[in-house]
Amino acid sequence: MHYLDNAATTYVTKEVFDAMKPYFTIYGGNPSSIHQAGIDAKKAINTARNTIAKLLNCYPSELVFTSGGTEATNMCLKGLAFSNHTKGEIITTKIEHHATLHTAQFLEDLGYSVYYLNVDEEGFIDLDELRSLITDNTLVVSIILANNEIGTLQHIEEIKKICDNARTYLHIDAVQAITHIPIDITELDVDFISISAHKFHGPKGIGALYIKDGIQLEPLIHGGAQERERRAGTENVPYIVGFAKALEVGIKDLAEYRKRLDEYGHYLLNRLAEKGIVYRLNGPEIGEDRLPGNISLTFPNCDCHELQYQLHRQGIYVSTSSACDSNNIEVSHVIKAIYPEIDDHKDGALRISLGSNTKYEDIDAFISAIIPLIKKVDQL
Ligand SMILES: Cc1ncc(COP(=O)(O)O)c(C=O)c1O
Repeated sequence: MHYLDNAATTYVTKEVFDAMKPYFTIYGGNPSSIHQAGIDAKKAINTARNTIAKLLNCYPSELVFTSGGTEATNMCLKGLAFSNHTKGEIITTKIEHHATLHTAQFLEDLGYSVYYLNVDEEGFIDLDELRSLITDNTLVVSIILANNEIGTLQHIEEIKKICDNARTYLHIDAVQAITHIPIDITELDVDFISISAHKFHGPKGIGALYIKDGIQLEPLIHGGAQERERRAGTENVPYIVGFAKALEVGIKDLAEYRKRLDEYGHYLLNRLAEKGIVYRLNGPEIGEDRLPGNISLTFPNCDCHELQYQLHRQGIYVSTSSACDSNNIEVSHVIKAIYPEIDDHKDGALRISLGSNTKYEDIDAFISAIIPLIKKVDQL
């Protein structure tokens, strides 16, 4: 198997799994219990929370554990909307993950006005458009820090200045960014951050919402006092422990990791060019402005679903940037936002996402498999 779909998810490493194991079998108490088994479980959560807070540079009390990135974003946007009684507008972008887009649409149905910012060909938002739309009536601006399809890294500092001037909350979806680019929460100084552990070798089904100290959100889940009454329900102790371990491992040697992923990315593109394959890289050039490891490619006249299927048959796993149902295949909302004139699914994209387990052999296998598939189309 050549797994080149690390943006979809990553595998739990042995190190992370070993850290989690005792919390299934040995320390299995309920963290709310006041006997020793409960105290041990509570201690594990506290230690994990402290570790995560230290690594990301925030207060432990500013982290609320959730079931992942989707819940974190729902908690932020709906929690704000339900606790606010004065402001009626929300601003986001056309290239958000569905966790944000669908939540925004839900809030539109409740009466909020939502503006979806345009992006340029590389996926960057138009700061002037943000300046022109933001008003005293804007409740929150929600922006994807690292785009999951095309890898664009938004310039958050600029966005934050605009939000500060308008006294508006800023939420960022950092699900793809964590362990790929440095994240120092105190330095970023945003109000909310969505995080998900399964994107960096933690287990699926655990994440967090960072909530800046002092901000009150209406909770979405009622039924207990867990997470300082911000998210009821018995905590998932082993997964929380796994989350902290995965972050600890993932954040180590981040600069070296980033450099390696960029080198792999260049290698992949150079090999395609050497073989005379025509492609378009969607999103920014590899480097400062692009999420390391994300390569989104469009091959003219090639159906990306067919390519993905044929690659899959050869044990090479990648994603497509498109949505399909049983009747039709549509270009994804992200590709449509950067190239509004495109509506043929043949202009969709393949997403190859590299990770810590990627080797040159995986990229070579991809190249060897894709060349005949594309040449076959060229000969038609
Ligand atoms: C940018 C982004 N936001 C949010 C999510 C949702 O996270 P989760 O799978 O933890 O719910 C994902 C997952 O693909 C993502 O890539």
